[in-house]
Amino acid sequence: MIIAPSLLACDFGRFAKEAWRVDKAKADWLHLDVMDGHFVPNISFGPEVVRAIRPVTKMHFDVHLMCSRPEILLEPFKKAGADGITVHVELGDRVTQLLWKIPSLGAKVGLAVNPPTAITNAEPYLSQIDLLLIMTVNPGFGGQSFIHEMIPKIQQAAAWRQERGLRYRIEVDGGIDLQTAVECAKAGADTFVSGTALFRHRQMGPAVRKMREAVSDVGSR
Ligand code: DX5
Ligand code: ZN
Repeated sequence: MIIAPSLLACDFGRFAKEAWRVDKAKADWLHLDVMDGHFVPNISFGPEVVRAIRPVTKMHFDVHLMCSRPEILLEPFKKAGADGITVHVELGDRVTQLLWKIPSLGAKVGLAVNPPTAITNAEPYLSQIDLLLIMTVNPGFGGQSFIHEMIPKIQQAAAWRQERGLRYRIEVDGGIDLQTAVECAKAGADTFVSGTALFRHRQMGPAVRKMREAVSDVGSR
């Protein structure tokens, strides 16, 4: 089970210190939300921020591109230190090329599905991806409420993985706290992005440990 705090919830005036805080909390991955003000109605940060925080930690950088033109961003983020890059299935027929290009750069490849989008849209790509990201809020902002109607999508993704002997991780993102993380783990999720619920703790370590124990408990049953 992977716990991935989302840097979108951090103090933007202290990116490096906040990345270090996540590292000291013994989280597994750092989730980096890249918003272009077009694919989503918000702008977050670019490759230069990723480059600036890369020396602070060895954690896996899980870059979530909520961008309309990810093609121009893959290499800059890889060079800046991304370990995994996720693009959205809503990009339509450009997805195939992107899912080929990302691993060719040496990064893990992820595919994200927004709440209104049917999970079947991701089905043609399942054998090509390392990570399937099921958005549990509409992308663009932190601090939103978890959309419970997304649980059946997680169950479907887990069933496909089981039936077809596939290896992708199932990541959930948006409104993830201790309670909703456990609900998602019961449905088959194994990678948990959490911004507000983890960054609100000055001592993030105990909160990360508690969330990991809670979802691992479910996983071991
Ligand atoms: C939303 C982002 C999420 C967000 C999660 O578009 O993809 O990663 O930062 O933040 P919380 O956990 O506060 O919902
Ligand atoms: Zn995200």
